[in-house]
This record gives sequence, structure tokens and C-alpha cells, in this order.
Amino acid sequence: MTVPFHIRAMYATDFQRGFREVLGALSSVTLSDEAAMLVFRKRLRSRVLTFVAIADDRVVGTASLLIETKFIHNGGCVGHIEDVAVLPDLQGHGVGHALVQHLIEECRKARCYKVILDCDPTIIHWYETLGFRPWCQAMRLDLELSPPAPQSQP
Ligand SMILES: CC(C)(COP(=O)(O)OP(=O)(O)OC[C@H]1O[C@@H](n2cnc3c(N)ncnc32)[C@H](O)[C@@H]1OP(=O)(O)O)[C@@H](O)C(=O)NCCC(=O)NCCS
Repeated sequence: MTVPFHIRAMYATDFQRGFREVLGALSSVTLSDEAAMLVFRKRLRSRVLTFVAIADDRVVGTASLLIETKFIHNGGCVGHIEDVAVLPDLQGHGVGHALVQHLIEECRKARCYKVILDCDPTIIHWYETLGFRPWCQAMRLDLELSPPAPQSQP
């Protein structure tokens, strides 16, 4: 069965099209509407590109991209893929592949010399079907955060 869908940049109104439920395939999203909107604006300002797959006017998948310009590699760009998720009911219909291919194409247009991402070992094979290969080793340090100071402006 094929599901007709298209991919576009995320709109603020996508919160009403089930965006948070889709991200739930990755991790729980507990943000209120208002908090989600603040995060949406902050991501736009920091140039995190969020894409969605839309089927029947509902969000069925999402993936994000950050393009980093480096001092090394002669000022070349690297694409960082983050938060790829597809609505569980629609997994296995090519939405995830199409989203990642869309991001790779964005990276090509931005003249990135490579595209990288971190993933769970269980997803390695899936990314290999998209042309990725295991490379390096991800590292992580968890930080304890104190509550943020009240701000007058978001
Ligand atoms: C991983 C994920 C994004 C794939 O999206 P999708 O739309 O289901 O993938 P596609 O339909 O494009 O690809 C389906 C193919 O990948 C395979 N596949 C799906 N998940 C897989 C996995 N974890 N490992 C290996 N293959 C997998 C399917 O069997 C299918 O193969 P087939 O075409 O031979 O039948 C989706 O399953 C998902 O949202 N998972 C939960 C969140 C997650 O783990 N995200 C990745 C973060 S790095």
C-alpha cells in the first residue's frame, strides 16, 4: 500500500496537525501549545530546519537539519540530521526514507561535504539503506540543570 504524502518545511500550525504525536515515536513531548510555539520560534532563530511529511493534511513524519559552517575544511559545511520520526501507524511506507533523502538534498544544495547523525545501534542498518556508513563514535555527557531564571522576554 502506498500512502500519498509530501514533504515541506514545518509551519507553526503543524502543532494542530499532530506534530507532537509524530515526535512521540522518538520520545515523549510534554510541551504545552504555548511552550511548543516558543521552541518553534527559537529553532527558527537558531536556524534549525524542521521538515514534515504531510498526508491528508496531517503530519505523519518529521526530520530536522542543522547546517554548520566550519573553520576547517576551507569553510565547508556539514549537515547534522536530528529527530527523524514517523507516525507508528505509517511506518514502513517510505516516509522515513523520503524525509532523510530530502534532508540529504538540502545538504547538497547547501554544498555540504558530509552529512552526519547519531542513532541507536538498532537503526544503523536502516541508515545504511540510505547510503550512510558507521563512522566515529558518539559521546555524551549529561549535565544537571538548575531551574532557569525568570525572563521578561522569551
Ligand atoms: C526509523 C523510522 C524513522 C523509519 O521510518 P519509516 O517511514 O518506517 O521507514 P521507511 O518506510 O522509509 O523504510 C522502511 C524500511 O526500513 C525498515 N526498517 C524500519 N525500521 C528499521 C530498523 N529499526 N532497522 C532496520 N530496518 C528498519 C523496514 O523494515 C522497511 O524495510 P522494507 O522496505 O524492506 O520493508 C521509523 O521507524 C521511526 O520513526 N522509528 C522511531 C523513531 C526512531 O527510531 N527514529 C530514528 C532516530 S535516529
